[in-house]
Amino acid sequence: MALGQARRFGGLAALPQVRPQTGQEAAAWLKSNLDGYYSRPARVPPYRSSAAWALRQMDDRFSILRPDTVVLDLGCFPGGWSEVAVERSEVSSSSSRVIGVDSTRMDPMEYHTFIQGDLAKKATTQAILEALGDTRADVVLSDLSPASTGLKQEDHLNSMQCCLHAAKIMERTLKLGGWFALKLTYGSEIGRFRMYLDSRFETVRAIRPAAVRSSRDMFCICKGFIGRQTIASEAKSKNAYTHEGMDRWNGERWLSSQEMLDEDE
Ligand SMILES: C[S@@+](CC[C@H](N)C(=O)[O-])C[C@H]1O[C@@H](n2cnc3c(N)ncnc32)[C@H](O)[C@@H]1O
Repeated sequence: MALGQARRFGGLAALPQVRPQTGQEAAAWLKSNLDGYYSRPARVPPYRSSAAWALRQMDDRFSILRPDTVVLDLGCFPGGWSEVAVERSEVSSSSSRVIGVDSTRMDPMEYHTFIQGDLAKKATTQAILEALGDTRADVVLSDLSPASTGLKQEDHLNSMQCCLHAAKIMERTLKLGGWFALKLTYGSEIGRFRMYLDSRFETVRAIRPAAVRSSRDMFCICKGFIGRQTIASEAKSKNAYTHEGMDRWNGERWLSSQEMLDEDE
């Protein structure tokens, strides 16, 4: 508003407020300010990677990282997520531990245990179990990403493979009731993986933090690990082998394959 116009409407009181109140201007103002909140302010020391801001944002919302916890960070190189985990779980002043794993060697970090290894290999799982000792993780984080090929479906399937590696490690290392936060790339297999997560956790939330620039990346925040029953007890509890027509076999013995052939003749 020009100064002359402001005078006409009654001086300074008629000047618009700094933050626009309505319409597209207000939406643009909110977007730019929220985006700014999760990009690094100039005065804050930089993290090792900008990915750290996505974890900060998720932690602001869900309070995943707390003092006196054990955090396992899968795909930790160059260390942005691990820095946030060390900071927020107050490793320097509590009994917390942060263990990071990556196939790429990472520069050492204070209050951090680094394991170099491919998560597809048994030896890496073994090294993680040894580092955990008698304890189990309270939080398993996975920012695992395969090298990009530029082909959507290929990248999606490679990312799902990373999720399967992370899930396999999570099942062996996470405490009952623990958290699992992992990155996924949008694509055809997301629904199936979500069903798996739903079967293992009390609640699963899919989110895309503002700090994430790639439109294809999303995160699942899984709370309350309920563990995994043995396949035998799962089958028993869900009557997996009962279906229509099965009742007529009750009380009868199973036929051997030779007897079945004889019956067919
Ligand atoms: C996006 S980066 C992680 C960034 C990290 N969270 C940070 O904040 O700095 C993904 C990492 O996953 C790692 N990665 C992918 N597949 C892996 C595998 N099978 N085993 C171990 N690390 C793997 C890559 O080496 C890469 O460093």
